[in-house]
Amino acid sequence: MTDQTAIPRSFAASAPLKGKIAIPGDKSISHRSLMLSALAVGTSRVTGLLEGHDVLATAAAMRAMGASIERRDDGEWRIHGVGVGGLLQPREALDMGNSGTSTRLLMGLVASHPVTATFVGDASLSSRPMGRVIDPLSQMGADISASPGGRLPLMVRGLAPAIPLSYRLPMASAQVKSAVLLAGLNTPGITEVIEPVPTRDHSERMLQGFGADLTVETDGNGTRHIRIRGEAELKPQTIVVPGDPSSAAFFIVAALIVPGSDVIIANVGLNPTRAGLVEVLKLMGGDIELLDTRAVGGEPVADLRVRHSALKGIEVDPAVVPSMVDEFPILFVAAALAEGRTVTTGLDELRVKESDRLSVMATGLKAIGARVEESEDGLTIDGTAGEPLPGGAGVAGHLDHRICMSFAVAGLASRAPVTVDDMAPVATSFPNFEALLAGLQG
Ligand code: S3P
Repeated sequence: MTDQTAIPRSFAASAPLKGKIAIPGDKSISHRSLMLSALAVGTSRVTGLLEGHDVLATAAAMRAMGASIERRDDGEWRIHGVGVGGLLQPREALDMGNSGTSTRLLMGLVASHPVTATFVGDASLSSRPMGRVIDPLSQMGADISASPGGRLPLMVRGLAPAIPLSYRLPMASAQVKSAVLLAGLNTPGITEVIEPVPTRDHSERMLQGFGADLTVETDGNGTRHIRIRGEAELKPQTIVVPGDPSSAAFFIVAALIVPGSDVIIANVGLNPTRAGLVEVLKLMGGDIELLDTRAVGGEPVADLRVRHSALKGIEVDPAVVPSMVDEFPILFVAAALAEGRTVTTGLDELRVKESDRLSVMATGLKAIGARVEESEDGLTIDGTAGEPLPGGAGVAGHLDHRICMSFAVAGLASRAPVTVDDMAPVATSFPNFEALLAGLQG
């Protein structure tokens, strides 16, 4: 998983995108469904699981710590859990590949179990900061030795029983929140996360769904106080994973910028903590219609009809950032085709994702002829008013799936092809991305 052969690909000006596609399962929800099922007593069933490398890394780690996890031929996953407190000592290092979510959430689980686990990952993951989870988990009693800069490889020696903690998040991060809550599962008493800026709430929803005693209280300042009582007992569940809005994002923007397009994207999760991109694109003039709004697996879902639109640049309110934190690379592509100027700020967290997404997007967009200025915490982009970008350049994906897919989409609205140096990372979150694209191109 950690070493892959590069897959270079060129993406050229596209015929109108037409037809209907279904988006694979939500990555965040898929990780959590495997982790919590692996900690329940009994057998859980999961359908719609994202079968990308990141989620498979979580599955392998939970197996290595004692859960039995199988995929049936009909696509249903069956997970037989070990019970909270029952994780076993893994025999080998846990290979997290490219996956920050697997790493940070599993560090939380290990922190309050009597096991010692070593976490390793690829070059991208090994450059990402883990201090943000090391701090609270150490306060709970875990003994963590990391590589310089608080990076992978690192070793977590869990403490059981761990010490309950009340922790105020210093940055808006669902991964840090979830790491502490998951550590709290096997910690006696109440573990609290104080969240001044709301982030995706899949952990809270799913922990409650599995029967954990978890409460959320919002105070007068809008700050959320999330409290979980350990040592919890989780009951097995049947879970349907909705489609990933962060994957749908690439096809939403592709349909908006390729002239003549009219696409239906089925089964898109629209949890309000994830749906910022759709709101922002509508403000830019995007023609996005929500059809058949419904609930799937306790999450709001709809089919989206998206038609080619004349987009206008806007100033993006930094308050929406947490609800679309993974969607900025593809928003920048939409902005590059819009009329006028798009200004984004408050994006410092983008610098510590799978790549430095501000610098990598600025460099790549400039290479294909877009007008972009990079600031410390955002990009300002002057769009083409619907004219194709010049294209005709190679761009580097930096082992970042969302960068690779963003430039693939940019190629569809460029005069000369855009070559992405390596599309292999796309398999972490969206293995059938190119197949779905080909289907829409007829
Ligand atoms: C995720 C949280 C976000 C997001 C990541 C998935 C999660 O990370 O970028 O892709 O599943 O909790 P941060 O917590 O670093 O913002």
